[in-house]
Parts: sequence; structure tokens; C-alpha cells
Amino acid sequence: MKLFDTHAHLDEEAFHPDRAETVRRAIETGVETILTIGTTAESSQRAVDLAATFPNVYAVVGIQPNYVAQMKPNDWELIETLSTADKVVGIGETGLDRYWDYAPIELQRTYFSKHIQLSQKLNLPFVVHCREAEADVVQLLQQEAADAPLKGIMHSFCGNPETAAACLELGLYISFAGMLTFKKNEELRETARQIPLDRLLVETDAPYLAPVPQRGKRNEPAFVKHTCACLAELHQKSPEEMADITTTNAKTLFNIG
Ligand code: NI
Repeated sequence: MKLFDTHAHLDEEAFHPDRAETVRRAIETGVETILTIGTTAESSQRAVDLAATFPNVYAVVGIQPNYVAQMKPNDWELIETLSTADKVVGIGETGLDRYWDYAPIELQRTYFSKHIQLSQKLNLPFVVHCREAEADVVQLLQQEAADAPLKGIMHSFCGNPETAAACLELGLYISFAGMLTFKKNEELRETARQIPLDRLLVETDAPYLAPVPQRGKRNEPAFVKHTCACLAELHQKSPEEMADITTTNAKTLFNIG
């Protein structure tokens, strides 16, 4: 089994007691590569440090939309600096979030655009967080696509088929997390069934929202196999085949050999 967890927050406190063990368990389960994603300037710095520590961990740097109102004066410059550090393979997570009222939507839009433009400048994929803001996210992506082609991921996708179609049209990949396995999410599974194989990715979003049968526990990269198995069933593939497909897609997108 060759798995690729495209989205984890390995720097979070939840992993303080056993971070190295967590990475080792992932490797033993067949997870070849883990992307650890920054949510603030500090967390992005930690992501870069973790990538330097663990051979199979790579970093994505950015400011998550819920944190853009708390940015300090040089935080964006730090993200720009970190974006060219060793083993940084993407920009994010960025996007729009109307669920939590932590940052004004206009400020979120400003930084979403800045992340996309940095991604275009460096030719690195961006990672989109979208919560209760599907129409706004699609609109902004379409605007940015007018300037230069987009290369990116809709992370922990839980949107409707129309949003998925619009994102596919823009050339984006669709990444599924543990929510795909939740009993009530039949509509999401129906959407996942319609995504072309060459645009599918899997992730954990660890330590959050562990997939069934680990639901309720702290999530960790080793659990990505459950989401992959669910996706495999939806596409009538074996878990090994789906692991191969999603790992090849992630390696191509993030240019990891
Ligand atoms: Ni995340």
C-alpha cells in the first residue's frame, strides 16, 4: 500500500506527546508522504521545521482564513520567505470561512488572492479551505484563473456537485477527508463517485475529524487508509488501486519524486 496524506496539522499540540511515533505509525501503515499544513506564520515555520526533521514529511505554508485578522505586521513577509524554504511544496491553507466569525470576509478575500498569486508566481499548488462559502470561493477562483492557470486542491471537500464541477473545470484536484466515511454523508459520497480518478486525493486533516471506524478519536495520518478504502469502494477499485491512484496524483501535483 502506498498512501499519501495531503493534509495534516502535525505541528498541533495534540501531537506533542507522540509526534515521532505518529509519523512512524503512518509509515508502517503504508503512508509514504505526509504534508503538514501551516495555519499561521508560527505554524508555517513549525511545518518547515517538521519537514526538515522527518524525511517523509513535506510542508505547505500559509495563513488559514480564520487567522488573517490576527496577523502581525511581518507575518505575510514570513510566509513569502518560508515559501521558498527546503521541502515546501505548496501554499496554504487559504480560502474563505463564513462558519466561524473570526475574520471579516473582505480581509479573507484579500489574503485568499495573495496566496493564489504567490502560488502562481512560484508554480506551487495552493490548498483551499472552504466552509459555508462555496459560491464566493468559486467566484474568486474564477477571477484569479483569468490571470494565470490555477494549480491547487479543494481540501476536505464537502461541497455540492456544482461546486465540484466548477473546481474541476478550473483544473483543481478534490481531496476527501474523514467526513467521506460518516454514515449520514451519502450525498458527499455520491459527489465523490463522480470525480474523475485523475483528480482525486485523500487526506486526514489530522488531528481533526477521524474517519470511521476511528471516529471520535484523535485523527492521525495512519487513518488516511480508511478514507482511501471508502473512496475505493465508491469507484469500484481495490484499496491498493485507490492508494496508487491518489498517491500518483499527489506526487504529480506537488512534484514529489
Ligand atoms: Ni487544515
